[in-house]
Amino acid sequence: MANSQPIISVQQVGKSYGAFRAIENISLEIKHGEFFSLLGASGCGKTTLLRMLAGLEDVTDGEILIDGAPMSGVPPFRRPVNMVFQSYAIFPHLNVADNIGYGLRKQRLPRARRNEMIDEMLSLVMLEGYGERRANQLSGGQRQRIALARALIMRPKVLLLDEPLGALDKQLREQMQLELRRLQQTLGITFVFVTHDQEEALTLSDRIAVMSGGDVLQVDTPSGLYERPRNRQIASFIGNMNFMNARVLSREAGTAAVEIDGLGKIEISAKGTTLSAGDRTCVAIRPEKLRVHTARPEGRAPGVEGTLEMTTYLGERSHHRIRVPGLDQPLSVSSQNSTIEVGAPGTGQRPVWLTWADGALIPLNDA
Ligand SMILES: Nc1ncnc2c1ncn2[C@@H]1O[C@H](COP(=O)(O)OP(=O)(O)OP(=O)(O)O)[C@@H](O)[C@H]1O
Ligand SMILES: [Mg+2]
Repeated sequence: MANSQPIISVQQVGKSYGAFRAIENISLEIKHGEFFSLLGASGCGKTTLLRMLAGLEDVTDGEILIDGAPMSGVPPFRRPVNMVFQSYAIFPHLNVADNIGYGLRKQRLPRARRNEMIDEMLSLVMLEGYGERRANQLSGGQRQRIALARALIMRPKVLLLDEPLGALDKQLREQMQLELRRLQQTLGITFVFVTHDQEEALTLSDRIAVMSGGDVLQVDTPSGLYERPRNRQIASFIGNMNFMNARVLSREAGTAAVEIDGLGKIEISAKGTTLSAGDRTCVAIRPEKLRVHTARPEGRAPGVEGTLEMTTYLGERSHHRIRVPGLDQPLSVSSQNSTIEVGAPGTGQRPVWLTWADGALIPLNDA
């Protein structure tokens, strides 16, 4: 059922609480069946945006369309969405089946049909046989699954989830992440998922909107955000990154020649950047994209010489801190211990060489 029209279209939406601007002119589109995450630090406006999608909060400027229809003036219960809140608001005095079937009560379904739907949901969230159990006799993870089932039984086109796994411990959280992804794929419902946990967003999402201070900084796939962050803020927010200050010497369509302070001239891919000759920039490289050699590498691969200051052994991998003359910060390097030649722990100062693959150096749009 291919549908090219976005299920959600947020058009220049802003939100003010009195004089305070919580959301600043956000535009984004979410596709049918997408697992879309809003990722950002506390207070950046994730819940506010989600509540505007749900109709629980008015939009100050702009327009939200869901399934092609403008939502201004449409109350929450008339929107084809359902929301799962961070504090799972299930009713402790009702049993599990009545909690899940709560939203169906107004629909005047025959009792048998209702029970069938509840059983279907119980098995979907892997709680078969729990229908009679009182909700306050459940673990946190089980309650969370009840909250999900209660939202899903209404068959919303869009499910809005506000940090639904925030209250769970790490192990349960990882298990529930897999379940969420499975449920979303089984049902084909669009998920808009709020989290401040970057690893969670990377694991689960088709696409992620990175938010900061009421603004969307970049909307991209997990690998797009990781491999091609648009600016320094995103690059440092997602994963670990080395930054080197640089100046653009010349710019062609897909490439640029940059002079990295202290390192010299390097040609890099500049696709998707707005850099031009003379700009100050910042060149970033992930710790795992650098390779350490204990002898000068053969051939003409780009590389630099440095001093290995410290190695931290982490089992599967090791972290190295390497000082390169001319750079004000040592480079952080991560290497897989299956291939590493310098994996042993130690603090001995020894000369090493660093190389990187084509495309590993990322020029950022801001310095
Ligand atoms: N009803 C309100 N009145 C005034 N300011 C509000 C109101 N609701 C939220 N805010 C402010 O708007 C900003 C965004 O809040 P929001 O709840 O959307 O953040 P969030 O990204 O969900 O944060 P968290 O990760 O902590 O849940 C915050 O600065 C918050 O203080
Ligand atoms: Mg919030």
